[in-house]
Amino acid sequence: MRIAPFGVEQWMNEWETGAAANLAETCVDSMTVNELLDLSGERDETADKMFGMRLSYGDIWGSGELVDGIASMYETLSRENVMVMNGGSAANFIALYTLTEPGDEIVSVYPTYQQLYSIPESFGASVRLLHLRYEDGFLPDPDSLKRLVTDRTKAICINNPNNPTGTLMNEALLKEIINIADSVGAWLYCDEVYRFMVHDGTVTPSAADMYERGIASCSLSKCFSLAGLRLGWLAGPKEFIGEVSSRRDYTTISCGRLDDLLGRTAIKHREKIFARNLEIVRNCARRLDEWVESEPRVSYVKPRAGTTAFLRYDYDLPSEEFCKRLFERDRTFLLPGRCFGPEFDRFLRIGYAYAPDVLQNGLARVSAFLRDIERRE
Ligand SMILES: Cc1ncc(COP(=O)(O)O)c(C=O)c1O
Repeated sequence: MRIAPFGVEQWMNEWETGAAANLAETCVDSMTVNELLDLSGERDETADKMFGMRLSYGDIWGSGELVDGIASMYETLSRENVMVMNGGSAANFIALYTLTEPGDEIVSVYPTYQQLYSIPESFGASVRLLHLRYEDGFLPDPDSLKRLVTDRTKAICINNPNNPTGTLMNEALLKEIINIADSVGAWLYCDEVYRFMVHDGTVTPSAADMYERGIASCSLSKCFSLAGLRLGWLAGPKEFIGEVSSRRDYTTISCGRLDDLLGRTAIKHREKIFARNLEIVRNCARRLDEWVESEPRVSYVKPRAGTTAFLRYDYDLPSEEFCKRLFERDRTFLLPGRCFGPEFDRFLRIGYAYAPDVLQNGLARVSAFLRDIERRE
């Protein structure tokens, strides 16, 4: 089975570790175990459980407390609607593996996290891309979607909030998409790993709550600042979760017991984590906005959610060369738009919400690099 190289992840693997100013990170300032335990107010109790833990496989489907905690983040779901996986990436993989059969048609938004279209393609689906355009504020156009779906469309894949653009589909737009999916009997698959970082503090409805054939993925990596736990999940109809579970036996067995313990602690105290993180995200988004305003040859669709934005630039330099030269200059790290597809070669993806000082320092370095380019023009 062939699969396209994962542009974003390969670029991150190659460059990220040596970065002095990392402007490609998509998690909100990752927490230490100490920070999590302090924030929970249950330090001693959790530490005792952790150190006394027998490292068996544990609960195959995740502890009851973890699974119920996840279900409680949805309006209409209970534990039978949830499957715990190793991160959102494993959740996406197994869901798309379960959904796709050779010859199926899959529609996916584009640009987005590449799993959503390259995995179905590798399993023999014919993929149709729903292009998100800068001119449309990077939001999907329902009329274009109507033209892409047919009776053979198995699933429509969306990502809300969207990586890389930081745009957010509101409930009305989600409903329009659901109506289109329903008209051809298709699933709606929504990657929601940034769901809890809407800058105005609201929480977007989940596709899993809105549609009987809606499936959502999510994880503790981005909005909970706990990527190191490698804990994610799928939420969807019971029958679909059953289909997933028979494939999960082949890939996962169970998720780590330590991850389960720290994960359920985080979910229990999520309001505190979200408050911490929303403050960071808003602060960073404000600084980014000021910077974009100050750079006449850089523009963007202002992000409303998540931790990333897609910066468009007006310099005669392909995005990979831009990022390599920037990195070589002083190890400032940005992600080339090219990783999301050839059309985006005058874009850069910035992960702006890691920490305000990293952002401030990194943006000053990017400005210095832009002045270098201008001097040589
Ligand atoms: C949209 C999206 N989905 C899924 C993932 C996978 O993250 P994780 O496996 O850490 O949950 C990422 C990571 O960058 C992402 O941006």
